[in-house]
Amino acid sequence: MDQVEQYLAENAEQFVEDLKSLLRIQSVSADSAFAAEMTKAAEFVRDQLLTAGLSAEIIPTAGHSIVYGEWLGAADAPTALIYGHYDVQPPDPLDEWDSQPFEPDIRNGRIYARGATDDKGQMLTHVKSVQAWMKTHGRLPVNVKFVIEGEEEVGSDNLDKFLAANQDKLKADIAVVSDTSQYAPDIPAITYGLKGIVACEITLRGPNQDLHSGMFGGSVANPANALAALLGGLIDADGRITVSEFYDDVVDLTEQERAAFAALPFSETAFKNSLGVADVFGESGFSTIERRWARPTCDVNGMISGYTGEGPKTIIPSWASAKISCRLVPDQNPRKVVQALEDHLRAHLRPGLAMEFKTYHGADPLVIDTESAFMNSARNAIEKSFGVAPVMIREGGSIPVVASFKRILGVDTLLLGWGQNTDNLHSPNEHFSLKDYQRGIRASAHLWNELA
Ligand code: BES
Ligand code: ZN
Repeated sequence: MDQVEQYLAENAEQFVEDLKSLLRIQSVSADSAFAAEMTKAAEFVRDQLLTAGLSAEIIPTAGHSIVYGEWLGAADAPTALIYGHYDVQPPDPLDEWDSQPFEPDIRNGRIYARGATDDKGQMLTHVKSVQAWMKTHGRLPVNVKFVIEGEEEVGSDNLDKFLAANQDKLKADIAVVSDTSQYAPDIPAITYGLKGIVACEITLRGPNQDLHSGMFGGSVANPANALAALLGGLIDADGRITVSEFYDDVVDLTEQERAAFAALPFSETAFKNSLGVADVFGESGFSTIERRWARPTCDVNGMISGYTGEGPKTIIPSWASAKISCRLVPDQNPRKVVQALEDHLRAHLRPGLAMEFKTYHGADPLVIDTESAFMNSARNAIEKSFGVAPVMIREGGSIPVVASFKRILGVDTLLLGWGQNTDNLHSPNEHFSLKDYQRGIRASAHLWNELA
């Protein structure tokens, strides 16, 4: 490890330059205007894998390409399947950024750019640790297979097909993903649970055109009023979701798990202050951590209807629409939940309105066995790099591939997050601490040794 550590120290600046180059590429998967940038990002990642000493190729899909790389020279040693994503969320709202989202800027030891932590910086930690081993030893202690996709932020639709069609090629003992967070600054964590998700969009259609609200108001259902009532009715005053059967398959938290969550350092005041809210709100009977990590939720992500320009306009809009997503916990099933949601909304629709219902991406919720030998290897690697042992946490975000790895390849995943949950992922001023970048690379370098 000494030579590896020395290589990491000598190349620390270059590793930051490489991250900057990747962050300059505007790889927004959701918006087809960025298609050429997606190709550039895939090529850059492939070249980084080649530089690290692996073989690498770009594999086209029906959507954005997958980058695959491998080194399989460690006979009798385990094989790690390393996953990350090179796509990012749209940078909007642009005027809330203090520096340009695709012009990485280093301030106070942090690199600011869209994708800095989610997931370009975190993903690159594994490429760089592999590079350090290859350049100093000409080999790795384990076999590695990299799968870096470009559709994570839009639901990983084409990845499952790729996994199913390449089961032999992707055969591995354990998967490694760095796309989550530490528990807090200097409290590294291993994430053993992620929420699932199902997303949809509804449109309520009423009169065949916008109407004068004086002439027609009160005589037909207003789609905007009706939408507000429908959405408002989804959650009751106790923070419970009102859709029948929604909670049917939810596995309750064990007393042990509740105690473990309660033992983590957490200040509700600091939490509220950091979000700029006067109070918290959620399902009664559960702590904030429990709500965030282990209870299902339902959120409106956006709404459009009627006149939203300057000044008043007295109309009944012809239509109203909303985007909704539900976060799921074991053993909820995305298809079952979205059907229950659709049934509920249709049952509560006001007379004279028609509803269009469109389902978007889904992902299964999961928890991972915390007692495996692989988990112990990860604990050791993190402790060696961070100087403290990680805490075990669950998180509220979703990474669709993790359930797919288990279902399609039969492989468990180590979720080793190097970021912070204050890194503003999906928000303006996303950033990644350069210290976390370095510590992540070192922990990853140790991980290959520990796994072997
Ligand atoms: N890196 C996140 C997932 C994440 C965030 C996990 C925070 C744990 C804590 C990932 O890139 C992401 O945002 N995923 C999407 C998936 C969805 C589009 C299917 C998500 O969770 O919204
Ligand atoms: Zn991510």
